[in-house]
Amino acid sequence: MILSIKLENLIQTNTFATNIAKVLPHKITIVFNGDLGAGKTTLIKNIIQSYGVSGNIKSPTYTLVETYHTPISIIIHHFDLYRFHDENEWLDAGFDEYFTQTNTICLIEWPIRAMRLIPEIDWVVDIHILNSENLINNTNQEQERHMDYHPSRMVTITPHTPIGHECIRKLKSIMKC
Ligand SMILES: Nc1ncnc2c1ncn2[C@@H]1O[C@H](COP(=O)(O)OP(=O)(O)O)[C@@H](O)[C@H]1O
Ligand SMILES: [Mg+2]
Repeated sequence: MILSIKLENLIQTNTFATNIAKVLPHKITIVFNGDLGAGKTTLIKNIIQSYGVSGNIKSPTYTLVETYHTPISIIIHHFDLYRFHDENEWLDAGFDEYFTQTNTICLIEWPIRAMRLIPEIDWVVDIHILNSENLINNTNQEQERHMDYHPSRMVTITPHTPIGHECIRKLKSIMKC
């Protein structure tokens, strides 16, 4: 059972993130695939905020990971592995232990950079920009008038564990899809 949803704007992304936060257990690992600019960080930030984390949520582009503590004592690790290349760095940083802690949610951008190192992945989230070819090639007046035009995103979630399947079932149920 997979879930696919079209997110037409940031408000819909926010609503989707809120629903995700409602169904996730307190221990789960989710990876996010998609090109630069697809919307991975945006969706993750919205999920983190849905847990009641306030303040600045910054992209871990250089730090590789940022950690948040929610008001109900869940730990959220947000990884961005775009600049990660060295397996030893994973071990040196103690990242293995991040995945064995209880009450810990791991949200990972660019998992492809460390695929052999990441322990059990519950959800694979794929994000694609829709109409991006039109946006680049189409220079007609219609497009130019819409300077604030934001293309929709297609998000697909594929579960890889029994826990992952259970969360998809719950998510579909609350989203009525
Ligand atoms: N669902 C969406 N609808 C419209 N714009 C979006 C959506 N999701 C993300 N964006 C915009 O796309 C841009 C890049 O998003 P970002 O999350 O940084 O991408 P990534 O982390 O995949 O590189 C941001 O300006 C963000 O506001
Ligand atoms: Mg990002």
